[in-house]
Parts: sequence; structure tokens; C-alpha cells
Amino acid sequence: MHGSLRQCLREFLYVVVVVEILIVLFIFQGAFIDSTKSHKEIDMVIPGKSRVDINFQSALAASPEVNRNHSLTCREIEHMVLDRPVGRGTTKTAFKSTFAGQTVVVKMVTDNVKDIVACKKKKGAHNINSCFKFAQYKIMKEIALLEQLRHPNVAQLLGSCIRNEVDKNDRVMVVMELGKPVDIRKMGWPMQLQVALNMAELLHYFHNSPIGSIRIGDFKKDQFRLINGTVKISDLDDLTVEEQSCDTASDCLIMGKDNGVPCIQSICKDFNTIANIQVANKLFFHPTFSKAPSLVQEESDDLLRALSTSSLDTDSLRNRIRSIQRTYKASSANR
Ligand SMILES: Nc1ncnc2c1ncn2[C@@H]1O[C@H](COP(=O)(O)OP(=O)(O)OP(=O)(O)O)[C@@H](O)[C@H]1O
Ligand SMILES: [Mg+2]
Repeated sequence: MHGSLRQCLREFLYVVVVVEILIVLFIFQGAFIDSTKSHKEIDMVIPGKSRVDINFQSALAASPEVNRNHSLTCREIEHMVLDRPVGRGTTKTAFKSTFAGQTVVVKMVTDNVKDIVACKKKKGAHNINSCFKFAQYKIMKEIALLEQLRHPNVAQLLGSCIRNEVDKNDRVMVVMELGKPVDIRKMGWPMQLQVALNMAELLHYFHNSPIGSIRIGDFKKDQFRLINGTVKISDLDDLTVEEQSCDTASDCLIMGKDNGVPCIQSICKDFNTIANIQVANKLFFHPTFSKAPSLVQEESDDLLRALSTSSLDTDSLRNRIRSIQRTYKASSANR
């Protein structure tokens, strides 16, 4: 009897331990089921949105740093709705669009750009594919350069799409920040000064760029856009790192003018940088500094003299403009 009581107690304790184990397992299982449920709920909260959309939106919201690192792909770009064209050049048409709340520009070759119209006339409409090839190559060049030239005065590349489609025109698209034309005639002098400084910073970067000294071929105002108050170059398909070749110094003239560029070993020395400075002087520096307010007129006149004799490197150029800006700000603050 005594022995069977002990046996009974042992069995009771065994049952208690088993029940406790079951209770613990049940609680953990409950916790596991709950966490799975919360995932399902997230999926249901945003119906119809792919994970990519959600990630991009939260990336955009998180910080500009994350945004800069996220490059849009074909899948995202091909779903973007194109708004009105904001510009049309020789090769590309630029369309306004939005992605995850951000206004952007999508550039691509269309059959009404000058290059394609001229090619169709020459080769016949049935040769449209070969006409598109060269234009597409120019956008690919722009994409490659935008990838490598990351700088505050270069429009930010947001994504690109290159599709090679059988029996169809290849599809090449580039997405970048949207900007406004840079019209210094409509700006007050302090803003013109800021534009001049942005240009000088860009030219300094181009002089020392990771791919060599870059010249802006086809340098004109329309290659630049004002993006969040900063001037950035937005058309990169005519950039070149090749320096001008020469037999004599007379082959090294810039806009028909002798800027003292020497011909050394059949190359015009520093031609790319000096040409950039001279064209930027014509388009931006001279119009700005020739109308400088009296507070900074002397410094501005000195700068214009140095520019006209081509005796400035890009570092001195930006330092002189920074100095004019400091003087101007200090004098304006004291008034
Ligand atoms: N980031 C931008 N934001 C707003 N508009 C832009 C932007 N980039 C280009 N555009 C507009 O689209 C036009 C065509 O773009 P882009 O200059 O890149 O083409 P292109 O064919 O290389 O032109 P071009 O014949 O001047 O070399 C520009 O002249 C400008 O008006
Ligand atoms: Mg161009």
C-alpha cells in the first residue's frame, strides 16, 4: 500500500511536469503565431504595392543619403507615368514625371528629335532602327558619365534602364533630378554671384575629375539646370576628355581667340580647362561681374582682367569668387 502511494505521487509529479512543459510550449507558440500575424497585416495594409515600392518610399522618407544610394531599375522606370515634355534637344526628349512623390525627369530618344528626323530623311524611314542606335549610344554615354561624376554641381542620377529588345527599338532611359532653366538676367546680383560660384566649382571638379580633365563640348546655357537653388550640369553626352590636337599654337585658339595655349607634343596644353573657363566667362562670369555693385567692383574688375588674359586656374577662380561673395555678404550685413 505504502509502495503504491509512492508510485501514485511519482505519476502525479510526472503529469505536473508534462503539463508545465505543455504550458511553456503553448506560450512560445502563441508568441510565434502573433509575430507571423503582424507580417500578414503589413502586407494587407498596403494592397497592390510591391515590396520594391514600399522599400523605395521608406528609403526616400528615411534620409537623402539612402535616396542617393537607391538606383531606379527598368522595372520601376517602365511603370512611371510620363507627364509633358520639359525639353527637347538634338538627341533626347526630357519628360517630367514623378516617382514616390519626388518630381523627376526621364530622358529618352524619341522619333521627333533632330538627330532622328535628319537620319530618317537621309536613310529612309525603314532604317529607323539604325538611326536610333547612335542616339541610344549617346544616352548610354550620359548614363556612364553620371555614374562616375558624382558632384553637387552635376545633376544626380536617380536610375537608368537599358533594354535590348529583339525586333524593336532598344530602349534606353535615364532618370535624374528635375531642374529649371538658368536665366541669370532674371536673377538678382547675389544669386548671379552664387551661380558664378557653382560654375567655378564645377569647372574645378572637371579639371581634376576621376576620368581626366573634361571639356564641355557644345557649352551652352541649356546644358545646365537650377536644382534646389544650385546650378548643375544636366546634359553630359557632349563631354570629352580628349585634349585638342595641334601642329602649331594657331590650332589652339578658343572661340577664334589666342589665349596663350601652347602646342606641346601635338597637344594643346590644358585646352579643355581653359576652353571651359573662357566659354563660362562669356556666358556667366562676364555678364555677372561687369555689373557688380560698387561694394565689390574693384575685386570684380580684377577678376575680369585675369579672366581676359587666361591667367587663372580653376582653384584661383573659385577662391576669387568666394572672396567676392564674402566681401559682398559682410558689407551688406553692415549696412
Ligand atoms: N534635369 C533636367 N531638368 C529639366 N529639364 C531638363 C533636364 N535635363 C534636360 N532638360 C531639358 O531637356 C532638353 C533636352 O535634354 P538634353 O540637353 O539632355 O538633350 P540633348 O539632346 O543632349 O540636347 P542638346 O542638343 O542640347 O545636346 C534640355 O535642353 C532641357 O531643356
Ligand atoms: Mg547634349
